[in-house]
Amino acid sequence: MKNQKVVVLINALSPNADKDELDVLDQALFAEGALEQLGYQTERLFMNLNLEKTKAKLKQLKPLFVFNLVESLEKDATLIHLAPSLLEHLSIPFTGCGSESMFITSNKTLTKKMLEAAGLPTPKQIYQLKPNGIDADKLYIAKPIWEDASVGISDENILPGNPNAIQAFLENHSNIEYFFEEFIEGREFNISVLGGKSGPEVLPIPEIIFENFPAEKPKIIGYTAKWDESSFEYQNTNRLFGLETTEVELAEKLRQICLQTWDLFGLKGYARIDLRVDENGNPWILEINANPCLSPDAGFYAATQKAGYLFPAVMNRIIEDIWN
Ligand SMILES: Nc1ncnc2c1ncn2[C@@H]1O[C@H](COP(=O)(O)OP(=O)(O)OP(=O)(O)O)[C@@H](O)[C@H]1O
Ligand SMILES: [Mg+2]
Repeated sequence: MKNQKVVVLINALSPNADKDELDVLDQALFAEGALEQLGYQTERLFMNLNLEKTKAKLKQLKPLFVFNLVESLEKDATLIHLAPSLLEHLSIPFTGCGSESMFITSNKTLTKKMLEAAGLPTPKQIYQLKPNGIDADKLYIAKPIWEDASVGISDENILPGNPNAIQAFLENHSNIEYFFEEFIEGREFNISVLGGKSGPEVLPIPEIIFENFPAEKPKIIGYTAKWDESSFEYQNTNRLFGLETTEVELAEKLRQICLQTWDLFGLKGYARIDLRVDENGNPWILEINANPCLSPDAGFYAATQKAGYLFPAVMNRIIEDIWN
């Protein structure tokens, strides 16, 4: 008889976990519900830096596959790839991308280097804090190299093209490793891609609409916009679907960029690619989420619903992609 046991692998949480860290529990619960509807028996396994323990447990459970939801280990996002690495080492099939893609896409500066080398557009990053490396007429945004979920991003991260301002930001934020890239005014799109037997499919494209933002307030999805339901930013940012009918050419351009990005990074199962489109209509890739949040309040789920897919069917496509 076929082994129908599936391990849902998540990171063990730190004692004082914030909302962004706790979100993995919602995802696990949601994924387990869908897997059970598909007839699988699920077992949740928490992973930490004790790899021997996770290895022994996986060997004992002998799952048909692992649904990998690990986002960090001991709150350190630089360790995200250890889950796929361990699963590759054990030859256990698992959902989502492999360790190499996970490592590269979780490191924003490395991702940008690869995008640049492939000729895909991404905002220019500053390599040196020398005056001639920075354009005084431009705005820049400070971004954590490794963080996700808008951790470490707020209005104060938008800086003028001035080495002193950038230096001062670094001095005040030494707890996280930051890099700087050109700030793209304009529109934002968070585009979900779903894998499966017939290859990747770009799901309906939502634009993030910034409502009631005062002119001087940066239009960004910072930490409060993402997680603090009582904040102005959370309450005044909404998803708007329909680009495929209102702006056919732009939607197609974005779709093609997402498919090229999927191929370039060897993505698998599911992904979300965040882009901006500047005032001249040029798209810019901000970042790639190789394991986007699956929770019902997040963008990936919203896109699957707009496409008219039932969630267990979406999960089935993510699972199919393991053996694709
Ligand atoms: N170069 C840029 N120009 C303009 N806005 C930007 C730029 N980079 C990031 N942002 C804003 O900051 C937000 C968060 O940035 P980004 O998506 O790169 O980080 P993240 O923490 O990985 O996000 P996520 O929450 O999607 O995982 C973006 O959604 C966007 O609003
Ligand atoms: Mg993002």
